Order: sequence, then C-alpha cells, then structure tokens
Amino acid sequence: MCGIVGYTGNREAFPILIKGLHRMEYRGYDSAGVALLQGDEVTVHKCRGKVSDLEDFCKGKDLSGHLGIAHTRWATHGEPNDINAHPHFTSDHKIALIHNGIIENHLVLRKALEKAGYLFNSQTDTEVLIHLIEDIKKNECLDLAEAVRLALSQIIGTYAVIVISVDNPNTLIVARKGSPLIIGFGKDEYFAASDAAALVEYTRKVVYLNNEEMAVLTPGNDLIVKTIKNEIVPHSIQKLRMNINELEKGGFEHFMLKEIFEQPRTIRESMRGRLSVEREVVSLGGIVEYEERLLQARRFIIVACGTSYHAGLVAEHLFEDLIRIPVEVEYASEFRYRNPVIYDDDVVIAISQSGETADTLAAIELARQKGATILGICNVVGSSIARATHAGSYTHAGPEVGVASTKAFTSQVTVLILMALCLAKRKGKIAKNKYIRLIEELETIPDKVQKLLDNASAIEKIAQYIKDFNNVLYLGRNYNFPVALEGALKLKEISYIHAEGYPAAEMKHGPIALIDENMPVIVIATNNATYEKVVSNIHEVKTRKGKIISIVSEGNSEVRNLSDYVIEIPQTHEMFTPILASVPLQLLAYYVAVLRGKNVDQPRNLAKSVTVE
Ligand code: M6R
Repeated sequence: MCGIVGYTGNREAFPILIKGLHRMEYRGYDSAGVALLQGDEVTVHKCRGKVSDLEDFCKGKDLSGHLGIAHTRWATHGEPNDINAHPHFTSDHKIALIHNGIIENHLVLRKALEKAGYLFNSQTDTEVLIHLIEDIKKNECLDLAEAVRLALSQIIGTYAVIVISVDNPNTLIVARKGSPLIIGFGKDEYFAASDAAALVEYTRKVVYLNNEEMAVLTPGNDLIVKTIKNEIVPHSIQKLRMNINELEKGGFEHFMLKEIFEQPRTIRESMRGRLSVEREVVSLGGIVEYEERLLQARRFIIVACGTSYHAGLVAEHLFEDLIRIPVEVEYASEFRYRNPVIYDDDVVIAISQSGETADTLAAIELARQKGATILGICNVVGSSIARATHAGSYTHAGPEVGVASTKAFTSQVTVLILMALCLAKRKGKIAKNKYIRLIEELETIPDKVQKLLDNASAIEKIAQYIKDFNNVLYLGRNYNFPVALEGALKLKEISYIHAEGYPAAEMKHGPIALIDENMPVIVIATNNATYEKVVSNIHEVKTRKGKIISIVSEGNSEVRNLSDYVIEIPQTHEMFTPILASVPLQLLAYYVAVLRGKNVDQPRNLAKSVTVE
C-alpha cells in the first residue's frame, strides 16, 4: 500500500523524490518522509500527514544530496505519526531504509534485537529490519548488500525495500517479495519505485523485480539481479508506455471526476483492435493461445476484490448467458483461505485494476498450485498479477489515480463482454444475428456514456437531496445487482454515508425493516427480464414511505411516476446496462462527497493499491 521511491545519480535527489511521492500518494497518505545522504550522515525528515505537509515541514532545511529515498505511508503497525513514518534509520544515522509490506515475525525479531541492546523508537514492524541489518553487518563484518540479503532471508512476510548507507554513497539497495518494485535506468543514474508513475518522467527503461529478488544500484555499474538465496538471475528491460498527461488532473477538480469523464474514451480504448463491426469480429489477442483450453473449461472461477469483484459478478451473468459454462465468483480473500475444490480443467480469471492486490495474487498462486489455467484482467501493464497469470487482457483504461475505481470498472466490464462474445462465438453458443446485434450495440456504448455525462448537472441536484441522509439502500436484479453493489461501494467509500447494495427481491427478507421516510432507496429499474418484478419492489418501498431514486431506460414513465427522482439512461441491451447504469451512480457518489466536504481522491483509511492482506 505504501509508496517507495529512491534516486542515485548526478541530479539533486529531493525534487525527484517529492515528485515521485506525489505521483504515488494514492498508495498511502497518512505520513511521509525522505532521507538524503549528506556528508557522512543520512539526514531524515518525516512527519504525519500528506506529501504537501512533508514539503512544508522541509521548507528552509538543507535538502541537498544526490542519493535519497522517500516514502508515503498507509499505516499497518503503529498509528500514523511522525515517529512511525518512514524512513527508519540506525541510531548513528549511517543507514536508512523504507519499506512497503508487512513483517509478520517482527515481534520475535524485535525481542531478540532488544535483548542484544537495540533501542526501538517506533511501533512499526519495519524498524526491526533496520536494526537487523545493522546487527548482521556489524557482527559478521559484511558489506551492506550482503547484510540486507541475510536480514531479508530471516523475514516472514512481504516487502519492497530500498536501503541507503553512508558507506555506499552512490548506491541504492533494493529488494522485493510480495510488494512491487520497479528499477528505472537513466544516464549515469538509477531510480527505484513501487510504481511506474514515479519514474515515467525521467525514464522509460525499466526492470520489474520478481519476488525474492534484489539488486545493488550504483551509477556506472551494470545491473545485476540476484535472488535472496544469492543466485544471479537474468532480467529483461521493458519500455514504459504510460502517458504523463494521464497522471495530471487536466483541469478537473479531482482525479475521480476526470476519470469518470474519461470513460467514453477509455471504453473505446478497451475495445480498440478487438472489436470490428465491419468484419463482424471480436478477438482478444492476449488469450488466443489459450482459447482451446478456455472453450474446454469445466468451469470459470473469478477471483477479485472490491470493485473488480463487482465486475466479476457482471461476468457471471455474461458468461453463463452467452458461453453456457458455469461461473463462480469469489472474493479473493475468502477463496485463498478456504480449501476450494479446483480442477485442472478449471479456468481462474483474476480481475484487478492495480494488478498488485495481495489477496488476488495469493488466490492466483493457490489456483496455480492446483493446476488451473489462470487469466488476468488488469489495468496496470507489467503489474504482478499480469505477470503471474498464464494469459490475459489489459483493460487499457490508463492510470487510475482516484482511490474510488470508476473507469477501471467500466473497462473491466467491457473486456469481459468482449471475452464472453468471443468465446460464445467460438463455442457455437450464439446465433450469428444475435452476435452481430450485440457487437453493433457494444460499439455505441461510448457515445451513450457521453450522453449521460453531458447531463451530469441533473445528478448534482439529486446529490443535494441525498447528502444529509445517514443510510442509502441500492437495489437491482440480475445484471443490475452488481451495479447496486458498486453504487453503494462508491457512495460509502468517499462520502462515508452508510450504503448497502441488495438484490431487489431479497429486500423483503430483512432490509425492508429499515425502510421509512428517512431511507432513500436507489433502484435500478431498466428494461430487462426482471423489470416488472423490480416495479413491484418499488411499490413495496413506497408503501413504507421510502424515497425512490430510480434509474430507468429512456422513455419510461411508469417508474418515473413512482419516483421522487429519476435518472434516465439510454436504451441498450441488458448485458450492457452495468456500464451505463454505473456512470450516474459514480457521479452521484462524487457530488455527494464533494457537498459533504470530503477528500474525494484520498478518502480516509483507504489506499489505491492494497498490497497487504
Ligand atoms: O486493484 P484492484 O482492482 O485489485 O483493487 C481491488 C479493490 O481494492 C478496489 O476495487 C477498491 O474496492 C476500490 N477502492 C473501489 O473503488
């Protein structure tokens, strides 16, 4: 979850490190810190708060130095405060370290180190690592890299670390297990970071470290990658394709709003080169090699978390409707700790925007051990999940910076629709005229999303109405049930209003007890097979004085007459409603959060990339 960045070279390190922290602040934002090599000391500045607080804290200080590391934290062990902030350092200020991950055996190590006389300042798990390195280096008379390697081999848990020391004044020592770490090459300089976003301004040449690998980065020396077991391993240099403009707000007040408004383009990007109405073709290059196995699959198991899980629920309907292969959708965090029955002819699909979610990665590992074929649907190119799967498709939505996922969701659903259509055709499960109708309609979806966005001000009015309630219920059925879950997640995560998504018909089995004049109920009642049933559910809410905000298909008057507020979405096939219906719900959550004065892009307690379980 934390963001780490390091620099060594001829330039001043501080501006590069601070810019890198800003680019990665969505990974964690409760405290931040920087360490710079200055003469025969490592100088550390760190404080509670955001990167801008660190910048204020550093004003007027000597920030010179060509070697440095910096960190933005999402607290796990120890509350967010100045002392628990990273970097952590030895008492003589000779070595400093930043860490992303969790050291599970920190208590045992801490006890032993305390016994050996080391004093601990913080409550973090990370501080054990700096003292352990110090201890090994001193007692075994080793160089720093070797001491880091031996210390890491004692760690149970996950880490991405960068270490600097006065004894190696040009060198960054980097290592990873579980948490991501990317090395960037410049001319006589090296960069290292959790995320390509921190590097892309300076270099496009990168190496992604694999699990349990480390490297010593000294300008002028070639890169040698070793395992923690001390074996030299090959590495491949990759080219970053990220666009810097995508990392800026581009005139919008928040990243989230920008990302919502990008959706007509990002959905098109997800379809680019994969859908051709003229040629009547849908194909996904990334899965071609595995198509036979997919068509023979006994079952699809989808593993994901949060919003990506909701995209998986949409896929359950799509795949079963179109391909007629059974689908199970699982929270990755539950799946990994069950003892699931997995066959070697199962296909496991992992969905993840960041491609770094720890639970999803662990679920993949479990499925791999059981012999299943694993596909990934990721947004971040080169991410750990993308590299851990047999095959897959990128969503191509571009960097998503707002913590609340928006464009990533609609792109995931788009790719899943393409996958379902492509496999249904290959399996002979879809009639030609239906296939053509669906791909023609799919091509119109970006324009329909644009139409919804052009009417965003209407949603602002509904936000005014919602903003003072304490609870909101979201109802939907069939393809619209995942939309209800996703709408509720968006509202709760950024506005802190309690919201729940429910299958509309389940309401009478419990939640109906909550309904009175203080309960707004957002009902997705678009044209589909269960429309009439949902209308009955609306009557049940109205009878109990609940307030109805409905999402209906254009031209609907029946539900309009029953509703306090109505949002119309363009007519479409029910398979595509999750894309269209989720857009006004994203806008609603956004406007409510803004009206309540919340930090939309960095909601409390959350982080964009959840690399701890
Ligand atoms: O990067 P991933 O898609 O794997 O992330 C999964 C969830 O952490 C993520 O979707 C989260 O629920 C979002 N904040 C929701 O807006």
